[in-house]
Amino acid sequence: MSMSDDLKAIQEKVEAELKGVQTLEDLEKLRVAALGKKGSLTAIMHMMGKVPPEQRPEMGKLANMVRANVDNAIKQQKVALGKALLEKKIAAETADVTLPGRRLSRGTEHLISQIREEIEDIFCGLGYTVEDGPYVETTYYNFTALNAPEDHPSRSAKDTFYVVDNAPEGKESHVLGESDVLLRTQTSGVQVHVMEEKEPPIYMICPGTVFRPDTADANHLPQFTQVEGLVVDEGIAFGDLKGTLDYFCREIFGKDRATRYRPHFFPFTEPSCEVDVSCGVCHGEGCRFCKNTGWLEILGCGMVDPNVLNYVGIDSEKYSGFAFGIGVERVAALRYDLPDLRMLMTGDMRFLRQF
Ligand code: DAH
Repeated sequence: MSMSDDLKAIQEKVEAELKGVQTLEDLEKLRVAALGKKGSLTAIMHMMGKVPPEQRPEMGKLANMVRANVDNAIKQQKVALGKALLEKKIAAETADVTLPGRRLSRGTEHLISQIREEIEDIFCGLGYTVEDGPYVETTYYNFTALNAPEDHPSRSAKDTFYVVDNAPEGKESHVLGESDVLLRTQTSGVQVHVMEEKEPPIYMICPGTVFRPDTADANHLPQFTQVEGLVVDEGIAFGDLKGTLDYFCREIFGKDRATRYRPHFFPFTEPSCEVDVSCGVCHGEGCRFCKNTGWLEILGCGMVDPNVLNYVGIDSEKYSGFAFGIGVERVAALRYDLPDLRMLMTGDMRFLRQF
């Protein structure tokens, strides 16, 4: 066989084999087999020296042409193969944009936030401001300035989460250390902050989270929400407290509800009471919901103790006031007959979406 036959045979072989190549790796193998250092075409090129001189120009030309053809064919196949592979990949990965999307489930405002805002609206309508206060407090604001005696049981670590215990050496912990740092157990401390910052007349509420070392059960949560209220002005009397809180109760529970003021004790108010509203289930007759009393307790309140005014330097001869603390979870429970307060904390949308 002559060299020109060999060259043609190589070109035909490569062209035939190219048709069957499916991957870029196989294509590369084919290229090396023909054009690589030890490839079939390269070997023929090396033999060019043995060709009689008169045939050499023609043979050289033919060899170069075959080489260019083979090279070209491989390059074309490479482009075609790359395109086919890409198309295959795109086809496999395309998303059907006509499929319906996955619906995002929209949440609702949490029941406690709803009631908190409702309470804010009621008092804003009466001209009150809405204040804020720190969750992390010192013993001074949470207890002392609120007239709580040093041995008041609520100061103990059993009833208060302490963050830093600065009780002086030798003193009983949490009793005398005024710089003890704690998670506020009540929003009442905000009364002190506001009175330190503002001159009377003060008409304010403060909604916020409070913390107590209670194990969560049907009636207790270690973290819950209160709305504190404080009024300090000239000539404020118990009738103002009663008129305001009666109005509040009827706004939140309904016009037909009666209220009852039961004497109680709070260190920062004198006199103090707890307010009950008539049971909405039995209308005062007595039922399981109100434990047969006909009444449901909803808040604590009282006339601001002059000691508290004196602590912040407000003239208790000139000014008087009243204060109250509403438990927001309690309002929710009473309004919607919730059997277990923990339902408010679990984030179960089947429950929360009802409101
Ligand atoms: N801080 C009280 C508590 O957590 C609630 C309270 C009672 C607040 C009477 C008041 C008040 O402002 O006057 O139980």
